[in-house]
Amino acid sequence: MSVPSTASPAPRRQGRRPEIDIAEARAFARGKVRKEITYRHLVSVEGVMRRLGRHFGEDEGVWAQTGLFHDLDQDETGEDDLARHAHIAAEWLREAGVEETIVNGVLAHAHPEYRTDRMSNAIVAADAVAGLLVAAALVRPERSAGMKVSSVKKKLKERSFAPGVNRDEVALAEPNLGLSLDEFIGLAIEGLQEVAPEIGL
Ligand SMILES: [Fe+2]
Repeated sequence: MSVPSTASPAPRRQGRRPEIDIAEARAFARGKVRKEITYRHLVSVEGVMRRLGRHFGEDEGVWAQTGLFHDLDQDETGEDDLARHAHIAAEWLREAGVEETIVNGVLAHAHPEYRTDRMSNAIVAADAVAGLLVAAALVRPERSAGMKVSSVKKKLKERSFAPGVNRDEVALAEPNLGLSLDEFIGLAIEGLQEVAPEIGL
C-alpha cells in the first residue's frame, strides 16, 4: 500500500520500507474479497503466519501480511481458474506498492515454483493448518479458546472432518520448516487465538 505523500514526510529508518499497518492491510483485504468466509480464512492464515514468523525470529509483520493476502483473489478467480489464482492478487499487491517478498509468498501458496525460501514454504502448511483449525474451532462452543494440540491432531487423522483440508500440506511443516507436528499445531493454535477477535473465533 502506498503511503500518501505529504509535504514533509515522517523520517524513516534508512533502508527500511514503511511498515504497513495491519488495520490498513485488513481494510485492503476486505475491499478485495466478496465473501465473509474468505475474509475469515485470510485472517486465520494471517494469524498462523505471524506466529510462525515470530517463532523463527523473522519479520512477523511481513509473514502476517503474506498470510492475509495469500487468497486475496479467491472470490475473483473461484475454484475453476487455478492458473490465474494468486497472479491476480500479485498484480493488485504490486499496484498497491506491497513489497516483493510478500508478493512472492502469495504466489508461492498456489504455484510451487515460487517456493524459494522459508516464508514461501511456510504459507503452504499455514494455509492448510488454518483451514483445519477454523473448522475445529467452529464445532466448539469456546471456539479457539483453550484449543489443544491433541484434539486438533485427532481431527487431522479423522479424514471425514474438514475433508477439504490437505493433510499432506499440513505435514510439510516437518520437512520444510523443521517443526514437529506438535510444535507446528501448537504455534498455529496460538496464532489463530491472536486473531480470533477479528473473525469471531
Ligand atoms: Fe488459502
